Amino acid sequence: MLKTFVCQICLHIAFNEAPVDCPVCGSAIENFENDVDAITTPVDPANLSEFEKKHIPAIRLERACTSESGGACTDVFIKVGEIEHVIETEHFIEFIDIYINRQYFSRIVFTPKKIYPSVHLHVNADKGMFSVIAHCNIHGSWRSKIKLD
Ligand SMILES: [Fe+2]
Repeated sequence: MLKTFVCQICLHIAFNEAPVDCPVCGSAIENFENDVDAITTPVDPANLSEFEKKHIPAIRLERACTSESGGACTDVFIKVGEIEHVIETEHFIEFIDIYINRQYFSRIVFTPKKIYPSVHLHVNADKGMFSVIAHCNIHGSWRSKIKLD
């Protein structure tokens, strides 16, 4: 079973093992807790409820590359979720963390004001498993993934 470790400072989730330093907030390995329930998984992945659709990130690959360099890249659109999640001070999507092959690359932070939790990324990769964890301040962390190639 996949091991998940949660930074108790910034709620970043690391896979397989805890990192020496948190790649998001820099806190030490002692601040990571092994938590098998770190990521909420849908009851029936083939038949998502409205609640689940509001939290699981929807990922869309857009093949038309806009890179001038000619390198391997993929345009990716991420929206949390398939059904719009509310953005209120008491309840909102705080951040999404981006991984390729379970290695962390970026965090995108949101506020509960005006901007809905969606983002368009130009990813410098065209292979591997691209995954996103969305964190709701009330309902926790939710993941979805998609193969780039
Ligand atoms: Fe929520």
